[in-house]
Amino acid sequence: MQLHEKIPNNVNLSQNRRLQRALENWQPNYINWWKEAGPVDFQADQIYLRTAISVDSKGWANFEYVKMPDYKWGIFLAPPEQDRVIPCGDSFGDPVWQDVPGEFRNALRRIIVTQGDTEPASVEQQRALCNTAPSLYDCRNLFQVNVEEGRHLWAMVYLLHAHFGRDGREEAEELLERRSGDFDKPRILTTFNEPIDDWLSFFMFTMFTDRDGKYQLLALAESGFDPLSRTTRFMLTEEAHHMFVGETGVMRVVQRACDLMKQDPNEDARAQGGMDLELVQRYVNFWYSSSLDLFGGEISSNAADYFASGLKGRAHEGKKFEDHLAMTGHYSIDVPTDGALENREVPMRNAMNEVLRDAYIDDNQRGVDRWNKAIADKGVDFTIRLPNRRFNRKMGIYTGLHFDVNGNPISEDEFNRRKTEWLPTESDRAHVRLLMQPVIEPGKMANWLGAPARGINGQPIEFEYVRRA
Ligand SMILES: [Fe+2]
Ligand SMILES: [Fe+2]
Repeated sequence: MQLHEKIPNNVNLSQNRRLQRALENWQPNYINWWKEAGPVDFQADQIYLRTAISVDSKGWANFEYVKMPDYKWGIFLAPPEQDRVIPCGDSFGDPVWQDVPGEFRNALRRIIVTQGDTEPASVEQQRALCNTAPSLYDCRNLFQVNVEEGRHLWAMVYLLHAHFGRDGREEAEELLERRSGDFDKPRILTTFNEPIDDWLSFFMFTMFTDRDGKYQLLALAESGFDPLSRTTRFMLTEEAHHMFVGETGVMRVVQRACDLMKQDPNEDARAQGGMDLELVQRYVNFWYSSSLDLFGGEISSNAADYFASGLKGRAHEGKKFEDHLAMTGHYSIDVPTDGALENREVPMRNAMNEVLRDAYIDDNQRGVDRWNKAIADKGVDFTIRLPNRRFNRKMGIYTGLHFDVNGNPISEDEFNRRKTEWLPTESDRAHVRLLMQPVIEPGKMANWLGAPARGINGQPIEFEYVRRA
């Protein structure tokens, strides 16, 4: 473990002077990017952050006050697994690769760049949120997510520098040059070019979109390219906190909505300055459907190739599956044909995106069930539902068609007529915007948001998580 070097790392960076120099050259550009495209304020303030200082169970969660630009962005890989073999695909059982196999070089580079691009993109999308944080606790959580996404960029840039030579270095520069929402140099994936300028959207993003990230990382953790597997395995430990922020954030919004309903003669949370449950449901519909798109096409030869070549596996390939070749099985998909849905059997390898999407959907449902239990515990009769996977899709076989939230095909006219039932309306967005007022007194929460169950790292809720300079 080299913690006190310019770039903290557990990859023996000082043993490889060329690589070390290349990354030390990239570092100031990264800091410039952070200052220019990271949080719009609070850069000179002390934030109570968790910093990874090692990958063992104790060392990766070290809490202290730090100014964000001084955060120790390091390079950490999970420890190597002895005699690890390629977990799936045509080369199943062969020793894993420590170097990039020539025939998969382009595909691997694309996978790493696409993953890497989402990390700084989300920091850029969220950069203005700190001005309207509903509490110091939440403000600190936002920054924690932001610095860790920055570290995830480091993780991908390390792979590019260490394994892809000059092309890799160029890609690493470009990762700092693209900007979320920029007309000329946008981020690669559409979802990552939409600004996230209200806190309900931020909680939805960390619940649904970060969870897509979790499943992409789980698939990459099964890669036959061992450095990629090891780096993503460590990223997953950090990612869990991002989903915690999302799930508990929405939880606190709905709990508060229930409390406000009880205070209102018409059970109207909105009239009491909260976010009503119908509005929350429409935000769920929007963010969940847009996050489903990130898994790619339902029937995909790319996905089949990635699996066959052992570049990506399924989530928990070893634990959850027995047949790691997937040469024989089929997967049944409802394919739109002439305005109706026709059930078709697709060769398993071509359905790998759908297999991953299934696991993602189940994982979301568990979180939604916890929200619904909290609503029921408050004595309110309302159930939040995940819309059907066909609803409002912009990518894959359901694109351009129209479905209701139960997945039934409907006409475009009907969709447009009923859209305001299902997706955030202008008035929803205006209401949410109106509620975005900063709360900076320690322990205090914005009116629309319940208090968290507990503070961070055993600290009280009224702890000063952000100390203004
Ligand atoms: Fe990330
Ligand atoms: Fe994340």
